[in-house]
Amino acid sequence: MIALGCDHGGYALMQDIKKLLDKKGLEYHDYGTYSEASCDYPEFAKKVAEAILSGDAERGILICGTGIGISIAANRYPGIRAALCTDCFMAEATRLHNDANILCMGGRVVGPGLAEKITETFLETPFSGDERHARRIGKIER
Ligand code: RB5
Repeated sequence: MIALGCDHGGYALMQDIKKLLDKKGLEYHDYGTYSEASCDYPEFAKKVAEAILSGDAERGILICGTGIGISIAANRYPGIRAALCTDCFMAEATRLHNDANILCMGGRVVGPGLAEKITETFLETPFSGDERHARRIGKIER
């Protein structure tokens, strides 16, 4: 299960990402927002973070205008590793090295074509499992 959340700045791009997930037959739960009306990104970061921490979802995707605010908000939850990615190298590396559990993107930063490739890369890349990366992740959590 993939938990989705966005604010008004990420709403349009999230509709493209949902079409991609539908095409790939991947199950998701959309925690909103559900329109382009102005709203507050921390609320959606919270819903997606809680879905992952409770075990309702394995991964999350969060989108705001820049991807910055929503990643800052999500990373306040211990156990959440939310990675703002603007290219496929970052998406691959953050799975391999950081075992990131939430992908963040900026709806005003990346176009739909690139965002879809970033999403595919993020969802298809496993954590490397390397001891050095696991050790470093362990040092992040308090
Ligand atoms: C909303 O205008 C915008 O501030 C928000 O989507 C995000 O970019 C914040 O980091």
